[in-house]
Amino acid sequence: MAPSDPSWQQTETRVETASPSGSGPGASVFLAACRLDHLDERVPVWFMRQAGRSLPEYRAVRDGIPMLTSCTQPDLVTEITLQPVRRYGVDAAIFYSDIMVPLKAVGVDLDIVPGVGPVIAQPFRTAADLDRLRALEPGDVPYVTEAVSHLVTELGPVPLIGFAGAPFTLASYLVEGGPSKDYARTKSMMVSEPQLWHRLCSRLAEISAGFLWAQVAAGASAVQLFDSWAGSLSAADYGQFVQPHSAAVLERVGDLEVPRIHFGVGTSELLAQMGAAGADVVGVDWRLPLAEASRRIGPTYAVQGNLDPALLSAPWPVLAERVREVLRSGAAAPGHVFNLGHGVPPTADPEVLGRIVSLVQSEGATLRGEARLLLEEAVPL
Ligand code: CP3
Repeated sequence: MAPSDPSWQQTETRVETASPSGSGPGASVFLAACRLDHLDERVPVWFMRQAGRSLPEYRAVRDGIPMLTSCTQPDLVTEITLQPVRRYGVDAAIFYSDIMVPLKAVGVDLDIVPGVGPVIAQPFRTAADLDRLRALEPGDVPYVTEAVSHLVTELGPVPLIGFAGAPFTLASYLVEGGPSKDYARTKSMMVSEPQLWHRLCSRLAEISAGFLWAQVAAGASAVQLFDSWAGSLSAADYGQFVQPHSAAVLERVGDLEVPRIHFGVGTSELLAQMGAAGADVVGVDWRLPLAEASRRIGPTYAVQGNLDPALLSAPWPVLAERVREVLRSGAAAPGHVFNLGHGVPPTADPEVLGRIVSLVQSEGATLRGEARLLLEEAVPL
């Protein structure tokens, strides 16, 4: 069933969370920045992969429970999603799940192998394989609906970000059979069997959109589409073979009126296309300063990022200066959500992440204000 089908819409219950005032997430600095409705009091901050392996309390509750099993247990999902919010006081929670969960839910035989990543029992290589990829129906992920509903109550004013994998990144796992360095089989299918490629990606787009719908319908206040591996593509191939499918996902959740974040790694040359795919916020890795990223994306988009996660182990005074640089550069964009340029590494010290949150929340607005004044003097904004 397509997410545009009315039976998805019937489950929509989040309307009140979008209210611009009151104590719900509608009043959040995170949602305001996404909507370019800045934000004199604070620059919002959260971390990709904040719920996960770097937290000792995560390792304790996950002990002995396989990754994909943990995603089907609403109480555990709720607890893990809340852990970084409690510990760091971040401005948004990200739902604890995985981009592979909806594929597993429609019956694809896959596992997430610790230290390796997603592994597909029978990789997708031919038209016949498409028969193994049905649409996601509302009843396929009851544990997601239950966990999100529960979380929204627990989180109160803190918004919950729902997410999904974008068609290219999902296809790369399905076609390669697991993680890959060069995506050779995926790219080969793309250019040599474009019809098969587009059919595969259309189905994946429906599944991703369905997964996002389920999360927003249950109360998530924003969505992030992870196209983590899209940076492996040229701009021309991205435009021809990938962007239309990501655009279809973002379009199908457009009428839910929640901010849409679009993120990939190594995407400096694709940022404008990623914005134009239907995002409100474009996630930027650490390779470009945010000011240049924003210039490439355009003046109507917020940016998210972009501290290099590898710097988390640098001495604090050095790291703190880098955090301030990100804030100053982000001031050139009409909206800025502070984040890392990719996920929190498993080895990250939670203390350091906590110090970053405090720094962004205490100094962010001042640094942003000062940098914008300087910009205005140079060129009227
Ligand atoms: O951000 C969060 O804290 C929320 C949860 C989340 C997970 N995966 C949990 C997880 C999110 C948003 C994801 C997205 C995801 N999953 C992406 C896109 C984000 C990115 O990092 O680019 C991708 C590519 C995947 C696929 C995947 N799942 C990989 C590559 C891995 C790591 C494998 C490994 O062990 O090195 C996973 C497993 C996974 N997903 C873990 C977590 C907490 C670790 C598993 C464990 O603790 O056993």
